[in-house]
Amino acid sequence: MSQVTLKNVVKSYGDVKVIHNINLDIQDNEFIVLVGPSGCGNSTALRMIAGLETISDGTIEIGDKVVNDVPPKSRNTSMFFQDYALYPEMTVYQNIAFSLRMKKSQQADIEKKVQNLAELLDITNLLNRKLQTLSDSQRQRVAMGRTLVRDPEVFLFDEPLSNLDPKLRNQMRVELKKLHTKLKTTTVYVTHDQVEAMTLADRIVVMKDGHIQQVGTPAEVYEKPANMFVADFIGNRSMNMVKAEIS
Ligand SMILES: Nc1ncnc2c1ncn2[C@@H]1O[C@H](COP(=O)(O)OP(=O)(O)OP(=O)(O)O)[C@@H](O)[C@H]1O
Ligand SMILES: [Mg+2]
Repeated sequence: MSQVTLKNVVKSYGDVKVIHNINLDIQDNEFIVLVGPSGCGNSTALRMIAGLETISDGTIEIGDKVVNDVPPKSRNTSMFFQDYALYPEMTVYQNIAFSLRMKKSQQADIEKKVQNLAELLDITNLLNRKLQTLSDSQRQRVAMGRTLVRDPEVFLFDEPLSNLDPKLRNQMRVELKKLHTKLKTTTVYVTHDQVEAMTLADRIVVMKDGHIQQVGTPAEVYEKPANMFVADFIGNRSMNMVKAEIS
């Protein structure tokens, strides 16, 4: 079981609250997308689930276990970072294979997994190149490989496609959707891209200033926005607002 539950989660930096009493039930197998304007707290929420950020109040459960005091490496999540941490001196192959090596997986399994992912990410021709020689988009795909190579209870993605050109971005979005259909691993995904949110999400969480504004399927948040903010935020063309009186 790998549902994720946030109960009254708060994050403060000193006197400043950046996450206010968030409650969220993420179902097993669900693909949840967090959206909101820059600074709304999406990355903070993700990092708290990963355990990279302590929480100031409330509880986070993964499966049936409260993980507040469980260190990141024991949470069985696999996270893609906005500012991806990779090993510059290692090759692409070594970067992707790293976690499998640490787990002492069989060499043949490692080889197969890395090759499959490299194909999916269109980086097969880069496997022997050192990280420091790659472009941003290539690095981003390697970081994606490092995230996907593991077999976690929960995938956490922070803007994983932001550096890719539009064609590659579309391609990768489709691949991610396919992968989730196949693996069904519970996923929490942060993006500023409306198309990604609408096409990948089972449910979208709209955030603003550390508050959840609405949780719903893409159709629900699009067709029945909970408030003016969501109405204005969701969709590539903003909605027309007309002042009216209910009588
Ligand atoms: N270490 C910190 N100290 C103080 N404030 C912080 C710290 N880290 C983050 N914040 C603030 O918390 C808020 C939420 O940050 P977060 O990184 O979650 O934003 P975000 O929603 O991911 O934004 P973006 O879309 O720009 O990545 C921001 O206002 C940010 O300035
Ligand atoms: Mg962020």
